[in-house]
Amino acid sequence: MLIAQISDLHVRAPGKQLYGKLDTAGYAERAVAAIAAYEPAPALVLVTGDLVDAGAPDEYANLRRILDALPVPYRLIPGNHDARDALRAAFPDHPYLTGTQGFICYTIEDMPLRLIALDSLDPGRVGGRLCGTRLDWLDARLSEGRDRPTLIYLHHVPFRTGVTHFDEAVFEGAEGFAAVIRRHAQVERVVAGHVHRSMSMRWAGTVFSTCPSTAHQFMLDLSPENHVDYALEPPAFQLHAWRPGQGLLTHTLPIGDYPVTRLR
Ligand SMILES: [Fe+2]
Ligand SMILES: [Fe+2]
Repeated sequence: MLIAQISDLHVRAPGKQLYGKLDTAGYAERAVAAIAAYEPAPALVLVTGDLVDAGAPDEYANLRRILDALPVPYRLIPGNHDARDALRAAFPDHPYLTGTQGFICYTIEDMPLRLIALDSLDPGRVGGRLCGTRLDWLDARLSEGRDRPTLIYLHHVPFRTGVTHFDEAVFEGAEGFAAVIRRHAQVERVVAGHVHRSMSMRWAGTVFSTCPSTAHQFMLDLSPENHVDYALEPPAFQLHAWRPGQGLLTHTLPIGDYPVTRLR
């Protein structure tokens, strides 16, 4: 079974560009086209936050137009650039967005790999947050499925990345989050976005990985200075391949026209 992940689309309203120069909607359209063309088709697409840039209704309408071209189902979670109510209003036929106790936290139970979506949005906080309400909910969901291999997806990253720009925006609740994950050995993986790059690390006894942006990437600047430089490195999506008995293997696929040479 394949699960696709795209992240940090930062879609703007029709005709508007991010930072006055990036056509993020066009980038998102190309990501959707790349997934639609991929064979074998993934069973599901996870869209891991920063869906739009300013949480505005016209941005969500544009996002919806783009995502509805996907030939397979997709599921959404918010990032720090999103707004829950505007997101829900644009996708009234996605009832899971109601979530729990005000947060867009939900589970997907009908796949060989159990999926748990976490809402790490805390309005105004760039680095994200998981409060006690959300962590209790996560612990309860994991406790009811100890024998079911599980993938968790959220927007934010709860550890230092070495990139000062991200590390200065602290994730609140990281220790509590790690403590919950450590209690549940069935967590195969936690996947996220936010950092606009691919990163992976052993964390809280599981593997944590991030998906690049469908548009701009953040420079891998490991110096102590807080630079906020983005780079037009190749946009990408990820395919998480689940094989019972083996585990979850993740591939990162650049989006674009790259020449293919058949060797035999
Ligand atoms: Fe982002
Ligand atoms: Fe973000």
